[in-house]
Amino acid sequence: MIKGNRYSTSVLSSPDLNSLWDKPRCACLIVLERYEDLEICCSYYDSDADLGVLSNKKIVFLGFGNQGSAQAQNLRDSGIPNDQILIANRVDSYAETAKSKGFHVEHDFAKAAKVADVLFILIPDQVQPRVFNEQFSPKLKSNATIVVASGYNVFFNLLRFQPGQDVVMVAPRMIGSSVRSLHEKGRGFPCFVSVEQNGTGKGLDAALALSRAIGATKQGAIASSVREETVMDLFAEQALWPNIIMMFREAFNVLKDAGCSDEALCYEMWMSKEPAEIFERAADDGFVAQLKHHSTVSQYGQLSGSLKLEGGAMREHFKDILYNQILSGKFCEAFSQIEDDLDEEGDTNPLNELYKRSEEMELVKAEKRVRARLAGLL
Ligand code: NAI
Repeated sequence: MIKGNRYSTSVLSSPDLNSLWDKPRCACLIVLERYEDLEICCSYYDSDADLGVLSNKKIVFLGFGNQGSAQAQNLRDSGIPNDQILIANRVDSYAETAKSKGFHVEHDFAKAAKVADVLFILIPDQVQPRVFNEQFSPKLKSNATIVVASGYNVFFNLLRFQPGQDVVMVAPRMIGSSVRSLHEKGRGFPCFVSVEQNGTGKGLDAALALSRAIGATKQGAIASSVREETVMDLFAEQALWPNIIMMFREAFNVLKDAGCSDEALCYEMWMSKEPAEIFERAADDGFVAQLKHHSTVSQYGQLSGSLKLEGGAMREHFKDILYNQILSGKFCEAFSQIEDDLDEEGDTNPLNELYKRSEEMELVKAEKRVRARLAGLL
C-alpha cells in the first residue's frame, strides 16, 4: 500500500450527510478540501488483503446481473468454496443463469438475509432501497458486512444499516463482462474501495479481502469514498456528457446548414469510431500526448483552439451542477419521485419521453436516414 496524503476513510464518511443538505456549500468544501490534499493516491494490492478473513463466511450476492454474475464467478475462482456462496435472486432468467453456472440460488430474500455474513448488493441502484430496506435489512445479522458497487444510495442515505454492521464500497470501474474477462485472463481491473461504516472495527480487512476475491486488487484498488465516487459519476452524467452531446448536436446542425451531407457528417463525427480510438489513445498515451498521432494541422488546430477558450462560463455552469444539483441532493430528490415510473411501458415512462424528444434532433434523424440507406451493409 502506498500511504498518501488522503484523509482516512472513516473521517471521509463521518459527517452527517443530512445536515450537509441544509448547507450545500459546506458539503462542497469538504469535497474540494480533499481534492486539494490529494497528492499521492492510496492504492491497495493483493499483498494488502488476506483472503483468510473470509473463511467460513457465507457470502450472499443479491443479484446476478452484469456485476453480480462477474463478481460471484471471480470470487469462486479465487478459491472461495461454492457452498459459502449464495445467490439471492427473484425468479427470473438471471436466477436460471446462476443455477446453470452451478451456484446455489435462494429466491426467499428473508432466508438469504438471515444466513449472510457478507451481502453484495448488486441489483439496479433505483430498486436497492426498496428491496434492501424491506426484505434484507430487518433480517440481516447485526455484524454483517454490506458491500455496494456504487456510492449513490449510501451517499444519499437511502439504505438503512444497523450500527454494528460494516458498510464497504467495492466499485469496479468496468462493465461486468470486462470484470469477468480480465479476471479470466489473469489481469485486474480498476476499482474504488472504501469503508463507509466500520461497525465491527474490521471493515477495511473485509473490504480488501472481498476486493481481492473478486480480482480488484491485482492492479491496485484505489482508496476512495462513496462521496467521491458519487460526485464523479453524477458529474460526468449530468454535467460533462450532456455538454458533449449538446456540442455534437450543435456542431452537426452548423455543418449540415453549411451543406455537409448526412453520410459525411455521421462518419466524420462518430460512425467511423475515430472518437473512440482517440479516447483509447488518450488512455494509453496521455490525454494531450495522443494528439501526436494526428496531423500537424490537426495538432495545431486542437491545441491553439482549446487554449484560446477560457472556459469561465463553462466552469460556472459545472459548479452550478455540482453544488446546486448534485451535492444539494436536489437531483436525488427529483429522481426518487420518478423512479417508480421508470418501470412503466410507453409514454408515462419519463425515460421513454426523453428518448422521444431526442428523436427530434437533426443528428438523430440524419443518422436514421444513413442507417436505412446502409441497411445490410453495416
Ligand atoms: P443489473 O441491471 O445487471 O441487475 C440485474 C439483477 O438485478 C438481476 O439479478 C435481477 O434479478 C435483479 N433485479 C432487477 N430488478 C429487481 C427487483 N426489482 N427486485 C429484485 N431483484 C431485481 O445491475 P448491474 O448493472 O449489475 O448493477 C448492480 C450494481 O453495480 C449497481 O449498484 C450499479 O451501479 C453497480 N455497477 C454497475 C456496473 C455495470 O457494469 N453495469 C459498473 C459498476 C458498478
